Amino acid sequence: MAVYQATASAPVNIACIKYWGKRDTKLILPTNSSLSVTLDQDHLRSTTTSRADASFEKDRLWLNGTEEEIKEGGRMATCIAELKTLRKEVEAKDAHAPKLSTFHVHISSFNNFPTAAGLASSASGFAALVASLAQLYALPVTPSALSRIARQGSGSACRSLFGGFVAWEMGVKADGSDSFAVEVAPQSHWPEMHALICVVSDDKKGTSSTAGMQRTVQTSELLQHRIKHVVPARMDAIKKAITAKDFDTFATITMQDSNQFHAVALDTDPPIFYMNDVSRSIIALIVELNRASVAAGKGIKAAYTYDAGPNAVIYALQHNLREIVNLTMTYFPQSQAFNDPFSLYAKGQGVPG
Ligand code: PMV
Repeated sequence: MAVYQATASAPVNIACIKYWGKRDTKLILPTNSSLSVTLDQDHLRSTTTSRADASFEKDRLWLNGTEEEIKEGGRMATCIAELKTLRKEVEAKDAHAPKLSTFHVHISSFNNFPTAAGLASSASGFAALVASLAQLYALPVTPSALSRIARQGSGSACRSLFGGFVAWEMGVKADGSDSFAVEVAPQSHWPEMHALICVVSDDKKGTSSTAGMQRTVQTSELLQHRIKHVVPARMDAIKKAITAKDFDTFATITMQDSNQFHAVALDTDPPIFYMNDVSRSIIALIVELNRASVAAGKGIKAAYTYDAGPNAVIYALQHNLREIVNLTMTYFPQSQAFNDPFSLYAKGQGVPG
């Protein structure tokens, strides 16, 4: 008897230009374009196995071994339905293709890092889910086409279908057909770029990105300024900086955009605080490192960025990495660091006062 099963894995991506705000909550269409770096290493990945079988009575999902409900009309159900529709097209064209679209699926996904701790677990999770079903269904589709489906699971997931430097172009159409991810440059374009992840806390975050975004869109005037007058120019400038491998500009924009995202969170009513005192101490550390380096004529050495949680991601070039890791380890005594290509992962708790 044939077994219809496929496994795919997708890494986390960390945005330099943040996505924050939906103009369509069902289709997950953003209020601004965004840009991220996909981390290419083993420590921060989701791995998902999907299986289709005639004996299954309903679609079921397990996350890290625990079964989760697939809510009717919810995001997971939407992604599965979209992929089944594409499978039907395959079956319509090929009379020999097994009718997998008529079978239910069982999906099992594992994250090898804390879920929902501001480490973009939903991004790698939905990207791996969409990739595994696309493989199971042998869909003849491009990563951008798949990103359009992953987007409907979790916005930022659309960017995890590519490696390297990735833009999510917001699009203008109401049906979302022009809102998908594209590669800006592959990892091999700028292999000196690394990301150091400092896990300040692996607690589940207080305000989910969905609830937070909704509140921000409804109440923040700063968000309106950001989406009209700030992000479009930043998108252009950071793409140019990546193409030119201009770290100073890349780092400056990345830090500015993290700051503005958290300012927008604070401008939300009631306000949202994602960073904590440790996060702010890390910012102070990086600011001082850069101040001294610029004063010595050596340019910017590191860029911090924070998502919807207190954990820091520090972008830096290979030749400055040792110094930054040492500095971070000094302030994070219980740290572990993994020096894999393109990214590092440090775990620690607390910066001394
Ligand atoms: O895709 P979501 O709903 O998890 O939102 C992600 C939002 C940020 O991580 C804060 C920013 C981003 O662009 O990834």
